Amino acid sequence: MAAAPPERPRVVLTTLAGVDGRITLRRDQVLLEPSVGERWRAAWPDDVEGLLARRDAWVEEHHAPTATLEGSGTFVVDGTSSPWAQVGGPWDHPDHLPRRAPHWFVVVDGRGRVDWRFTGDDTTALLVLVSRATPPGYLARLRKLGVGWLVCGDERVDLAVAVRRLGGELGVRCVRADGGGGINGALVRAGLVDELHVVTMPVLVGGLGTPTFLDGEPLAPDGVPVRLRVVSVERGAEGSTWTHYELDGA
Ligand SMILES: NC(=O)c1ccc[n+]([C@@H]2O[C@H](COP(=O)([O-])OP(=O)(O)OC[C@H]3O[C@@H](n4cnc5c(N)ncnc54)[C@H](OP(=O)(O)O)[C@@H]3O)[C@@H](O)[C@H]2O)c1
Repeated sequence: MAAAPPERPRVVLTTLAGVDGRITLRRDQVLLEPSVGERWRAAWPDDVEGLLARRDAWVEEHHAPTATLEGSGTFVVDGTSSPWAQVGGPWDHPDHLPRRAPHWFVVVDGRGRVDWRFTGDDTTALLVLVSRATPPGYLARLRKLGVGWLVCGDERVDLAVAVRRLGGELGVRCVRADGGGGINGALVRAGLVDELHVVTMPVLVGGLGTPTFLDGEPLAPDGVPVRLRVVSVERGAEGSTWTHYELDGA
């Protein structure tokens, strides 16, 4: 009898959103850009930082995630193409793990778009998830920077494969998904999210196309919404809330 596949790591999704679900100011700006981040934080009511700190402490205490998962959209705006797209060579780039650290900062960058400045330290190692369609020039760049990658898919990164490999090959038992709506939407559609922690603040951003915490593909024509079970709600003095949900079936 074949052995059962190893259990995949638990995936805990965390986010901070306005009551309209928006998680940033515009689609053509990233929060890592200091002037954008400053305007975003200036809108936070006084109770947000405390709720974020308590949520983070709770996730750490109960799950101690050893991987944080982000999408490339946290680092580059929509429409950014790979600076290495034209740097060719045969595609002969199996997994590359030049270093290990107690914590992994894992980023899906199948199109090879992010020009990394920070690649990790003694406690955290950057790890990039790529596919067999990722430009070889980008992988050469990662190799030069001493950054590792896992090949998880043909045309694009297969998130189910990626999450399992983080567990099976790197020993990760819990992944904290802390990205934007694109990666979050893909994780939910793939049935990979077990638990959700949303800090919602009484702020409106608006704007058609402004990222929300769950974008990605629409429901299938015969699809039904994912049911959530509320585990707990904490309300701050200014009306922000931290809500902890479990996804149906998790
Ligand atoms: N408030 C918050 O808590 C918070 C947190 C994080 C980010 N943000 C903001 O959110 C914005 C980014 O959101 P976004 O939606 O533009 O970017 P995103 O969430 O990073 O979505 C794009 C990423 O998802 C991957 N992806 C999408 N669909 C996929 C699929 N079906 N299979 C595999 N991978 C898939 C893409 O892979 P490829 O790159 O391989 O194509 C890319 O890495 C930024 O403005 C950022 O500042 C806010």
